[in-house]
Amino acid sequence: MVPPDASNTKAPEARTVSIPDEKINCLPGCFITLEGGEGAGKTTQLSTITAFLQQRGIRFISTREPGGTRVSEAIRAVLLATDLPAMHADTELMLMFAARNEHLQQLIIPALQRGEWVICDRFTDASYAYQGYGRGLSLPRIAELEQWVQGSLRPDFTLLFDIDVQLSRQRAARRNRVDVANVDRFEQETCDFHEKIRAAYLQRAAQEPQRFIRIDASQTQAAVGTAVQQALSQILTQRAAQHAVRTIQ
Ligand code: TMP
Repeated sequence: MVPPDASNTKAPEARTVSIPDEKINCLPGCFITLEGGEGAGKTTQLSTITAFLQQRGIRFISTREPGGTRVSEAIRAVLLATDLPAMHADTELMLMFAARNEHLQQLIIPALQRGEWVICDRFTDASYAYQGYGRGLSLPRIAELEQWVQGSLRPDFTLLFDIDVQLSRQRAARRNRVDVANVDRFEQETCDFHEKIRAAYLQRAAQEPQRFIRIDASQTQAAVGTAVQQALSQILTQRAAQHAVRTIQ
């Protein structure tokens, strides 16, 4: 999938001045990320999310990581390539954050500043899950990069598409039989690797229950779609309540 913003974006001028940290976590937009293991169906649900927001007249962009800008999509191609030799895990981590920095500066932060919603298919939770728990890299090291690249900017909400690893691999195998050329470096990893990823996501969700909304992705596509709509309604309600509190103050 090439996100609409990525392929035809006319390169904007490079942003070299970052927003001061005290302002970055109170941008007017709403930042929602989608996370989960391979074959969890989160990308398929993008159309449900898009339709939900359009029906309510909410201005939004949808994008993905690694990727989302031309430079970041070029980095993505390197990260997912199966015809390159295996790279050092630190290289992989730094490329993820290099792509993320570009994506934040060129696309995500400007959209949040304009008051738009940003729907991002994967973000930094994936770096903790895949590079931290999956590859065994130091979590404090990832936290340092997170602080450097994002300051205090964090997603407002994260929809976690959770699915049993065996089931998701069966789904991925079915998809890959049809689309063999598109099996990427991460999809080629072992079951054990993917079990670690799932456990990592569940652990992070338990640590931040106010941010994460778990979606049972083992259900039918229609049932997952209903759960996604319920999650978005919950987010709208919470944002309205937060807005009301700010207005009273
Ligand atoms: P996807 O577009 O199919 O989700 O593929 C992106 C792959 O990149 C996926 O396997 C997860 C991986 N990834 C990381 O390992 N770390 C990250 O920080 C991100 C954003 C993605």
